Amino acid sequence: MTPHATRRTVLLTTGAVALAVGCGSDGGDGDGDGPSPDSGGPGQVLAATSDVPVGGGTVFKDAEVVVTQPAEGDFKAFSAICTHQRCLVAEVANGTIDCPCHGSRFRMTDGSVERGPATRPLPAERITVEGNSIRLG
Ligand code: FES
Repeated sequence: MTPHATRRTVLLTTGAVALAVGCGSDGGDGDGDGPSPDSGGPGQVLAATSDVPVGGGTVFKDAEVVVTQPAEGDFKAFSAICTHQRCLVAEVANGTIDCPCHGSRFRMTDGSVERGPATRPLPAERITVEGNSIRLG
């Protein structure tokens, strides 16, 4: 009698474990899908396209981003943090993005160094132009 009782106990236990695992998997899949829609949302509106002059650019100090428009409708964005010693660039003039601290200049078309002491380009930032709005991301 004792061996039979032992075998039933083992079988019941195994069945219970299988059910628990099944329920856990279903619940996990549901939770995993939740955050996905948030990550695909539009980014923050940075500016209107009219805020960025054709053949020039604008420094958005709060966002630490500089947006240029080398040709009409062709918008570029870069980090506004100078790669020399991390000053905020001040302005876009005569085709370059200018740092006031030690005089580095970066080309408004691709962020590359036109004049040192900086040796590395301004990193590009991702923007999306939607109608008259420029969004980050
Ligand atoms: S921090 Fe920009 S030139 Fe030095």
